[in-house]
Parts: sequence; structure tokens; C-alpha cells
Amino acid sequence: MIGIFDSGIGGLTVAREVMRALPDCPVCYLGDTARTPYGNKSPETVTRYAIQDTEFLLAQGAMVVVVACNTASAAAYHALRQTFDIPLFEVITPVVETVLSLPKIQRIGVIGTRATVASGIYERMIRERDPQKSVFSKACPLLVPLVEEGWMNKPETRMIVKKYLHSLKVRQVDALILGCTHYPLLKDVVQQKIGKRVRVIDSSQAVANSLVRFLEDRPELHDKLRSSDPSCLYVTDVTEQFAKIAQSILQRNVSLTHVEL
Ligand code: DGL
Repeated sequence: MIGIFDSGIGGLTVAREVMRALPDCPVCYLGDTARTPYGNKSPETVTRYAIQDTEFLLAQGAMVVVVACNTASAAAYHALRQTFDIPLFEVITPVVETVLSLPKIQRIGVIGTRATVASGIYERMIRERDPQKSVFSKACPLLVPLVEEGWMNKPETRMIVKKYLHSLKVRQVDALILGCTHYPLLKDVVQQKIGKRVRVIDSSQAVANSLVRFLEDRPELHDKLRSSDPSCLYVTDVTEQFAKIAQSILQRNVSLTHVEL
């Protein structure tokens, strides 16, 4: 099966696209809801959690693991690569490659958690590939709790999104990367507030596409994934709110299994 983990609910936006792109491959999802959010924790703590999350998924039979959390991708991907000898995917490289493949994009905005923005990973990756690009980042710590409350369409949320995006709007960015797995759930509001001219890009589809390309070159692994155990959804803390949002993201009934890490 394909293992996917996140600090909580946001990674389900990635799981949804992976399930759409590879409908014949079961997915084992882990949301570390007991320890969420990762976005305001130190890189050391996030790395420790990410290693435990990956160990859990491997114990369930995952043959490929997707780190569906920007904060964990920024803080822990390197350590995960050194610790585990399996195909590992993160959510930052695919979106960086997508934005750089688009025409007429010179000024790039990035929004994410405090930890992701503080890591400077998007600036580094973009400038390594194209030093001519300008990158402007903004941490938006209030957006994750708003999404978790299900406040996607509240006037208060629109006001906060507008305030966060002001500095990026003033800088006239051509593209805006949603550098947090929760933010695709706010894509419409973000698009409205940043303006129609700006390409708003999230990682979920780009990650799913990179997984598809990877498996196209590895038919044996693809066959093994197809014949693995059915999909499952694990959380480290079961809450009604998680079940409600998970159902609305995946558009179907979900059954959550509690696990202690
Ligand atoms: N999943 C995290 C990310 O993509 C956001 C939630 C959190 O802070 O844990 O950065």
C-alpha cells in the first residue's frame, strides 16, 4: 500500500489526489492528530515525529511513503531519507517544479506555517533552480486552526486571508504557492483575495503526478501496491471534527482507527 502521513487533516488533500490518480492502489493514511500542529514546533521535534509516523506506516505494510505535510517535508525529509531505505515523496519539490514550468512567472509568493516559512526551503529550492526568480514568503499561522474549525467560508476567515496576503499582493506576485496541506481547502478565498491574475498552486496534484510517473517506471512495484491490503485511515486522536472534515474532503464515509505512537 501507499503510506501517507500528515500532522492531521491537511494531508488528506494529498491523499485524495493520490487516490484519484491511482485508484487501484490502496492507501494507508496516518493523521497525527494528537500532536498536531507541527507547524509551530522545532525542526528536531517534527523530525522525531516524522520518523515515528514513517515507522508506523512501514509496520502496516507501506511500500512507498508520502510525507503529506509541508512542515515535515521541510524539517524531516533529509533525516527520513537517511533513516529509511524506501521510496519517499515530499510535497515541496513537485510544486516548485510545477511553478517553474509555468510561463511568465517571475515573482513567486509562498504561504505556509511558521516552521515552513522559517526553514526558507521554498526560496532555496526555487533559487537553486532559477536564480532570476524573486520569492516572497508569508507565514499564516491562523489558517490551520480556521480550516480545522471548518471555517472555510466565514467572513472572519476571508478577512484574515486578505490581511495575510496584503504584503504579497503589494509585491505583485505572479504565482502563489499554497505551502501547507490545509490551504487547498481555502483555495477559492485565497484566489479571490490575491486576484484573478495570480496562479494559485497547491502541491496535491503535483505530488500525485510525480507518484504516477515514478510507478510508470516501476511496474513490479505498481503491481505489488495494487494487490496490497485495503485502504485504511489511522489517527493518533479520534475526534468528531476530524471525521467530519475527512468525510467532506474524501467525499465518502470514513472509519477511523485509533493508534498510539
Ligand atoms: N500539515 C501542516 C503543513 O502542511 C499544517 C498543519 C500543522 O501545522 O501541523 O505544514
